[in-house]
Parts: sequence; structure tokens; C-alpha cells
Amino acid sequence: MIKKATAKAPANIAFIKYWGQRDRELVLPVSDTISMNLSDCFTTTTVDFGDYKNDQVEIKYDGGKLEVVSGKAADRVLAQVQRFRELMGIRENVRIVSQNTFPAGAGIASSASAFAALTKALAQATGWNGTKQELSVLTRLAGSGSACRSIDDGFVKWNHGKDSASSYAETLYPVGYWDLVDIVVVVDDGHKAIGSAEGHLYAHTSPLFKSRVRDLPVRIGQVEAGLHHKDIEQLGEAIEIEAISFHAVAMTSSPRLFYWNGMTIILMNLLQECRKEGIVGYFTIDAGPNIHIICEGSMVAQLQQRLNKVDGVKRLYVNKPCEGARVVEEQLF
Ligand code: PMV
Repeated sequence: MIKKATAKAPANIAFIKYWGQRDRELVLPVSDTISMNLSDCFTTTTVDFGDYKNDQVEIKYDGGKLEVVSGKAADRVLAQVQRFRELMGIRENVRIVSQNTFPAGAGIASSASAFAALTKALAQATGWNGTKQELSVLTRLAGSGSACRSIDDGFVKWNHGKDSASSYAETLYPVGYWDLVDIVVVVDDGHKAIGSAEGHLYAHTSPLFKSRVRDLPVRIGQVEAGLHHKDIEQLGEAIEIEAISFHAVAMTSSPRLFYWNGMTIILMNLLQECRKEGIVGYFTIDAGPNIHIICEGSMVAQLQQRLNKVDGVKRLYVNKPCEGARVVEEQLF
């Protein structure tokens, strides 16, 4: 057992969203989902098993400031530690420090990169040596299901599976397959009121949930065809309708979940205007107000130019498809 290890994992943006579960305990989704790893939005996590008084979970902010994580967030992290302790027969306490390159909880899938980095680091530190598929399953079980899509590389598909062992994510296309970009447009970096962990529980209360699930195979087929043919129009049409379908379910569930704000709508309309002028980008939106613009690399400069003129746009992250979770040499402490 190595005891101390650091891993880095990307966030991912879902082209087909995971929303609602068919098994809460096992974190099983209602359908397959598809995503792309984000090169510029990632979490780095160091875990160290040793002679600590208690288990400690900390976040490192820019400038090196460390903040202790407590409550539910720490419980979720330590539940994953416990899983590895039981698997590998470890008794020592642990210190965990984690660092993000982007704001957490604002619809940029911070929990995905966080749980993928944590699980990869735990596997390395404890000497666990299962397959990538098994690592994806263990990551899913940590609770943020979408995190299992941040283990493998590039464009990733999470097979909903028949049972726990068959519900894992794997590469659909590798990193260099298509010069696709996700421009994350940050309009609000505050924490959302109701996170996805809770949102999944309400999905089935929406009267639109059944029709969404019924239509998903068609939408998945369109996204797969768009990726296969590298056809941005086909992919873009499908991901916009899919994002709206997910939000329509969220907005009509009990309680109602409104993740958009005024800027979200302004930017959705801006993209329609841009397309008329031949500047081609399509939106998708996770559980937050920030939009993700999916476009080909050749469109990035023109889109950036348009976005920089919009009041209320705080920051842009330009992401390419990238590798999944990796062990890295440099430790955070
Ligand atoms: O993996 P969770 O429980 O954080 O849920 C993710 C939910 C969405 O980000 C809205 C969709 C997705 O598939 O990433």
C-alpha cells in the first residue's frame, strides 16, 4: 500500500443528461447518458492514510488557503473512503485535500470531477488494482453518478446497465477524435439551492418525466449519429432539445427547480442570432444558470468576441475533450 497519492480528474458535460434514478441506493440511471470530458475544469485531490487524530477533509483555494469541509459534503467523501477501507482492510485515518480550477456547485459538474479524482486517488493510495470498468462502478457508487463518466477518456457513454456491475462508463471516442469545444459561460458562480443529488429524487414527480424517458432513445441515437458523422448541426439540435427536456422536467417537478436565470435566456437567444450569421454554437445547461456552448474549434474566437460584449458574462472556460482521471506526481500537501 502506497498510503499517499494524488489524482486529477476532469469535469464532464453531458450531451444526454442523467436525471432521476431507477435505484437510489445503487445510483442506477434511467437511461444511458453521453458526455465529453472538460480539459480546463478539473479537480486535483491528494489522499493520505496515516497517523491522523481524525479523518480530515479540506479544500484548497487559490492562494493556498485551506478550508475544512464538514456536514453532508464531508460525509459523502468519507463514505467513499470507508468503501475502500472495507475493500482493502485499512484502519488508518485519512487526510484529504482537494483543489478545483473552477467554481463548485454552479452547474459545471464539480461533483463529477471531485468524486472521480477522489476515487482514483483512493484506488492508488490503497493499492486497489481493479479494472477501469470496476473503477467507474466504484466512482458511480460514491453518489454523484455522473462522476463515473470522468474516469475514461474523451467522449464517454455511461451504459445504464442491468445491475450495478454493468452500469459503468467507457470511452465512445478518444480525445483527439473531433475538435469539439465546450465554452463554459459563467454568469453566476454562487452555489445552487438544490443540488443534483436531491434533484434526482424529485424527477419522477414531474408529469413530463415519462415522456422524457420515452423519447430518450431517439435523442441518444441523434447524439450518437452527430458524433459519428462529426455533424455539429445534428449534434447541436439534439443536445439543445435534450437540455430543454431535462430542465422542463426539473421546472415541473415538486418542488419546482428553476436553475436558469435571465442571463441564461439571453445567451440561448444570442446563440440563435449567431447561427443566423454563420457563427455556429449550440447550448447545453446542467443544474445551474451557466450555459455550455458546444462548437467546433474554428468557431471559438468569433463566439468569444460576441460573448465578451455581453454584460453579465463573468468568465469563460474554453474546454477541449481530454483524458479521464489520472494519478499525478505532485501532491497538494
Ligand atoms: O451525478 P449527479 O448526481 O451530480 O447528477 C448530474 C446531473 C446533471 O449534471 C444535471 C446531468 C449529468 O448527466 O451530468
